[in-house]
Amino acid sequence: MQVAIDGPAAAGKSTVARLVAEKLGGIYINTGDMYRALTWIALQRGGDPETAPERVAAMLDNLRLDYRLADGAAPVLALDGHPLEPAAVRSPAVAAKVSFTARIPPVRDWLVERQRRAGQLGLVVMEGRDIGTVVFPGAKYKFFIEASPMVRARRRLAQPGEVVDSATLESVAAEIARRDELDRNRRISPLRPAADAEVIDTDHLTAAEVADLIVERVYVGESQCPSHTRHI
Ligand code: CDP
Repeated sequence: MQVAIDGPAAAGKSTVARLVAEKLGGIYINTGDMYRALTWIALQRGGDPETAPERVAAMLDNLRLDYRLADGAAPVLALDGHPLEPAAVRSPAVAAKVSFTARIPPVRDWLVERQRRAGQLGLVVMEGRDIGTVVFPGAKYKFFIEASPMVRARRRLAQPGEVVDSATLESVAAEIARRDELDRNRRISPLRPAADAEVIDTDHLTAAEVADLIVERVYVGESQCPSHTRHI
């Protein structure tokens, strides 16, 4: 069973999805980290996803990206067998290029295949941009988490290591607006809510409140479907 959580940059999806997975006893998968991991390794190898997308695509044949189950709800993402450093994949340098990686068609095919495989692990709470529209269009629970640009900039600024030292509210807002524009206007799998997703405006809600709302929807949905309740 999949719970799909999509939304724009810095809306708070990761915190919410992690909480939902913990509360439901499920597995939390952050697909943004997968796009970030490929961006990081491409930059390490001198391939800029913006100017040399073909080099990023060419890496895929000899790359292994998989999840290892760890303590807690979140499995650890490993690249060629090495666990990824959160500080590396969440760095501003990777954030600046990740939307270019995410618009390379073979990259999306390669990752969506792995995301669908991860979705078979059990009760999976997966967050990203196209989970409800492309990865699991048949998911029973779909949410699209929104927040206004300034609220999102404030949330991102509060995350240590994710912005440059000189960052201001305005510069962070501009950076996430630029990334959203690339994500919304790309040709394949653009960022948008699935027609059957519940859109949640989180400007005035804490992450815990959003998570509670989602968990409530799942409980209500599953109580109407007795054969599934044993998974929760
Ligand atoms: O955490 P944040 O909101 O900054 O972004 P993320 O979830 O780490 O995603 C980073 C980038 O990966 C996004 O801006 C998209 O370009 C891309 N992405 C995507 O295209 N599809 C997904 N399912 C997840 C991420």
